Amino acid sequence: DSLRAALQQMPKAELHIHIEGSLEPELIFALAERNGVALAYPSVEALRAAYAFTDLQSFLDIYYAGASVLLKEQDFYDMTAAYLRRAEADNVRHAEIFFDPQTHTARGVPMQAVIAGIHRACQDSPVSATLILSFLRHLSEEDAFATLEAALPFRDKFIGIGLDSSEVGNPPEKFARVFARCRELGFHLVAHAGEEGPPAYIETALDVLHVERIDHGVRCLEDAALTARLAREQVPLTVCPLSNVKLCVFERMEQHNMVQLLDAGLMATINSDDPAYFGGYMNANFEATFEALPLGLSHAQRLARNSFAAAFLPADVKQRYL
Ligand code: HPA
Ligand code: ZN
Repeated sequence: DSLRAALQQMPKAELHIHIEGSLEPELIFALAERNGVALAYPSVEALRAAYAFTDLQSFLDIYYAGASVLLKEQDFYDMTAAYLRRAEADNVRHAEIFFDPQTHTARGVPMQAVIAGIHRACQDSPVSATLILSFLRHLSEEDAFATLEAALPFRDKFIGIGLDSSEVGNPPEKFARVFARCRELGFHLVAHAGEEGPPAYIETALDVLHVERIDHGVRCLEDAALTARLAREQVPLTVCPLSNVKLCVFERMEQHNMVQLLDAGLMATINSDDPAYFGGYMNANFEATFEALPLGLSHAQRLARNSFAAAFLPADVKQRYL
């Protein structure tokens, strides 16, 4: 129908995509063969069948296993180029892409191969694309500092710093000092908070880490004062509806709180998170959300506008989309 066509065709920005989460099973198997890496699954079908998650951790275990096939700069290039082709097909005009260097450097992959491969694919794409280096929050702050140090020779190739992986028990304040350093260095700052973790993590991400956006943040509605603050300060939330359902943050899409987030005046956006694992890229996320919830064309336009308003783009570039 016409709403569906509008969702597909409207120019949009994607602000929450983990590049390792765009690795499709077919490419995992192709790279495993190319690199001589053994996989715990006999076939593409068997791997896909394992994508039945009960919570964030059950996903992360498989996501890190999938990423183990990435060894060479060309592997990172091929993965990123495939994502950007999919994004372009969904009329994504700008993407701010997370990458998790610790997932790779811990296996002996050089930081240079990770960053150069992903960055070169961004430069070769017609989609505008920038990179956000994410620290794994289940590892120590010391490990994050070492990762920052190893990445600084390539600091012209990423614009921001994020925080992802196992949320509960790893609050933002665990990374207060390394985020303070990243802030001094002039990076944009974001953090996953309020996906599985409590609203208090959203508050400390803002007040201790000084992040400019919250990734997910859907649990903010449990705290009325926090919700009012997020609305007043127009803090962007990079919401990922298909992810939230696959990881059982909401049981069904009909129970997703996107309508309440928008009605509360929040700067919410729609994003794909880990599209190869969660059942779809940007347009699939928009379509599933709009199909399940009472949302119409004006909401679609607002979400597309929010995606550019919340992007780390120069004001004159943003203006073209607002
Ligand atoms: N949450 C936390 N860590 C992640 C995610 C997520 O949704 N995707 C990839 N790493
Ligand atoms: Zn995420």
